Amino acid sequence: MRGREVTETDQANTVDMDEIVSLCKRRGFIFQSSEIYGGLAGAWDYGPLGVEMKNNIKRAWWKAIVQERDDMVGMDAAILMHPRVWVASGHVETFADPMVDCRNCQARLRADEVEGETCPNCGAVGQFTDARMFNLLFKTFAGAVEDEASVVYLRPETAQGMFVNFENVLTSSRKKLPFGMAQIGKSFRNEVNPRHFIFRTREFEQMEVEFFVRPEEAPKWHEYWMQERLNWYLKLGVRPEFLRLKAHAKEDLAHYAAACSDVEYLFPMGWLELEGIANRQDFDLQQHSKASGVNLSYFDEEKGEHVVPFIIEPSAGVDRPLLAFIVDAYRQEEVRGEKRVLLKLHPSLAPVKVAVLPLSRNERLVPTAREVWSLLRPHFMTAYDDAQSIGRRYRRQDEIGTPLCVTVDFDTLEDEAVTIRERDSMEQARVPVAGLVEALRERLPAP
Ligand code: GAP
Repeated sequence: MRGREVTETDQANTVDMDEIVSLCKRRGFIFQSSEIYGGLAGAWDYGPLGVEMKNNIKRAWWKAIVQERDDMVGMDAAILMHPRVWVASGHVETFADPMVDCRNCQARLRADEVEGETCPNCGAVGQFTDARMFNLLFKTFAGAVEDEASVVYLRPETAQGMFVNFENVLTSSRKKLPFGMAQIGKSFRNEVNPRHFIFRTREFEQMEVEFFVRPEEAPKWHEYWMQERLNWYLKLGVRPEFLRLKAHAKEDLAHYAAACSDVEYLFPMGWLELEGIANRQDFDLQQHSKASGVNLSYFDEEKGEHVVPFIIEPSAGVDRPLLAFIVDAYRQEEVRGEKRVLLKLHPSLAPVKVAVLPLSRNERLVPTAREVWSLLRPHFMTAYDDAQSIGRRYRRQDEIGTPLCVTVDFDTLEDEAVTIRERDSMEQARVPVAGLVEALRERLPAP
């Protein structure tokens, strides 16, 4: 294990997950999928604030991984791929979880999550069937005929779309080793037990890097990416004592990996994986070369030899990090005898950056407040709120993590200045409307 050495007993995350789920629903971050029909297990919908935050996470990742680097390129592959991809990758054969059924209540549970002989669903003892392997691939049919020949899978990871395009990307981008591809997109797994809100779902998003290196350099690059990815979460404000890198035991490694470490976050449910950083060796390129007959090697001009690169894969979800960012930012404070709920999100992740709040709905204030709002909309994701007292409105913005509020009051009509109120310190500063965009920008650090 690398990074901070934190043991299970060092601390606990005491945030109440029910409060997080309730805040997410109440404020429009996340809703149960198809709620009006009773919901669909393992699927969630992102509301107006949730989609903003999700986009912010993806933007921050893309900026750090693609935009700011000279050794990475992006891509966006189709979700549906040739079914032979998943045979070559090993998913058709081995992408399975061991599962037991309870004979008493018919619940289907992951064998590795059941402790002892007692069913966590109905309490029956000794009623489990033997464990059977359950393949997690979602199957469907392409075209009008529903037969074996038209079976396609919804991808369970974005990674394979990059491996099968190795040759295309190498030739078109003219990159040299070491270099990487990055992709963000939906993946699907027929999880036996979707649970912990958006932590384990059947449809989710991934942000994956496939970094191609000379085989002898793989351990060095594996180390590098572990630190790089841990630092990404730290830079986005996650508290270091709630993050750690945890190496997989040999027997827990996926079929393709020589080594893998997870970035874990200490959720209220315990330490859980946000992303895995694996050394996939040359497994995928070799498999696809063999199965397709296309040589997926790299010609090293300096050394005058062909090599099949090893792949270092930092593979993150979007949903799990989003949950970790919210849980980590959640605070309850007392301010002048009143409870204040606060999401102390990094400004680059906050769904709304600036809220414009007229002191009241007074007819003289509203046109000026709306003008200020128009001035800001091209530059920032904003909100406008004039309902209820100014104190209540500050609290509403605190609860969704809005870093800055701009208050328009009666003095504004005279001095053409407004008040900027900062979320965490609650400090206020008076600034001229003429310099407002710059003043706000200065207070909103990039990741
Ligand atoms: N290409 C390698 C790969 O897919 P993984 O550890 O199976 O590795 C990577 O998945 C990340 O994708 C996980 O760390 C997690 O953040 C996210 N993920 C995987 N399964 C998920 C699920 N059922 N629900 C939500 N996120 C999931």
